[in-house]
Amino acid sequence: MRNFNENTITDAVLARISDASNPRIKQISEALVRHLHAFVREVRPSQKEWEQGIDFLTRTGHMCDDKRQEFILLSDALGVSMLVDAINHPQPEGATETTVLGPFYVQAAPDKALGEDISGGLEGEPLLVTGSVSSPDGKPLAGATIDVWHSDDDGYYDVQQLEKIGDLAMRARFHADDNGRFHFWSIKPAAYPIPHDGPVGQMLEAQGRHPWRPAHVHFMISAPGHEQLVTHVFVAGDKYLDSDVVFGVKDSLIREFVRRERGTAPDGRHMDAPFYHLNYDFGLKPGGSR
Ligand code: BEZ
Ligand code: FE
Repeated sequence: MRNFNENTITDAVLARISDASNPRIKQISEALVRHLHAFVREVRPSQKEWEQGIDFLTRTGHMCDDKRQEFILLSDALGVSMLVDAINHPQPEGATETTVLGPFYVQAAPDKALGEDISGGLEGEPLLVTGSVSSPDGKPLAGATIDVWHSDDDGYYDVQQLEKIGDLAMRARFHADDNGRFHFWSIKPAAYPIPHDGPVGQMLEAQGRHPWRPAHVHFMISAPGHEQLVTHVFVAGDKYLDSDVVFGVKDSLIREFVRRERGTAPDGRHMDAPFYHLNYDFGLKPGGSR
């Protein structure tokens, strides 16, 4: 077969992959070719525009290393990460909704005892986080593992300022008590822009978009016999809730971070300054590993 033109090239490529032995690879390859060709037919790029597209992807790749994953950021900013999440994590009644993992998760977060302060001494408004982990039927998940991480009050994660602060902070791993409950202290996080000094930032600017995420606390929660939950809790009232650059906000994940006056906090600690209190009760979907 030869002499392909705009009308015949798609079928020719599809025919060429029709013998792929793995049916899933065949299905994915066929869809890729059909959608890519349809994209090009719709956009009708000039040769120069096509080169610019290739250059964009090349620079996206060059931006990646063991600390920066520009392709995931691209997937996040184009809403693809949340689409994949929606397809893979339909949640039953009583199970907490999921959202994106993001690039600031660290596997080796320090283990902390319930009630500890994880702020690492960083300045900010004190925040008490309390909550519980249970099955959708309400059964407490004693010993559930709760990984948390969040930004400081300037919107920076510890890993973005390690030279300045010297150690991991505002992140920890806890284990729920016998009633599935947990609590810890930290500082109230702020909204922040996703890393936008690379190709994804240029794309956002060209698309007339801002790079901001509303303030939130990340949670990764696991318990035997349940699917791992990856989610955040967002600060109610944040001005970016309706324009999160990565489309990660869901109503069920927004909570008031309640301002409380100085005095005795719900965990019995005496506070001589005002503080904030977030409570969230998480539900884990029964099932295997995520
Ligand atoms: C985050 O919330 O940490 C995040 C998520 C997606 C892209 C960038 C940051
Ligand atoms: Fe985040």
